[in-house]
Amino acid sequence: MVKATQAPGNASTVLTPSLKRLMVAAEKAARNSYSRYSGFKVGAALQLSNGKIVTGTNVENVSFGLTICAERAALVQAVAKYGPRIRVKAVAVANLNKTASTPCGACRQMLSEFTEPDAPVVFPAIGGVSVMPFRELLPLAFEMKP
Ligand code: THU
Repeated sequence: MVKATQAPGNASTVLTPSLKRLMVAAEKAARNSYSRYSGFKVGAALQLSNGKIVTGTNVENVSFGLTICAERAALVQAVAKYGPRIRVKAVAVANLNKTASTPCGACRQMLSEFTEPDAPVVFPAIGGVSVMPFRELLPLAFEMKP
């Protein structure tokens, strides 16, 4: 696992076969991106504890704030398909623009309700990919204790 301080520029990270598969699924999802305003084609793939992989892509809107990111699209798809008890064991994010990018803050917060703290998150880095545990991407997520 690379250190948080190495993101987003660790080109030498070698993915495990299952993370590689997840990344390929994210890249495939990015091909369906509806990104006519930014041209930024993003795909996300979630590995669930039930063994399933669920993907999503970004869907933009002319009312820009309505745009949904690939990660959140994947998450709502996963809940719609497998229900509210899903747990996310790994996350991959890809883009077809050959640029480094981490999941945005809104997506991290939304993922936090379903994602294991030690779940690896793979994302494009300079010259390759970076992997880091979810807890390092979003320490101190907002929570409401009853
Ligand atoms: N985007 C994502 O899909 N995921 C992120 O984590 C960051 C940004 C999308 C939203 C928008 O369609 C485009 O990338 C440019 O911001």
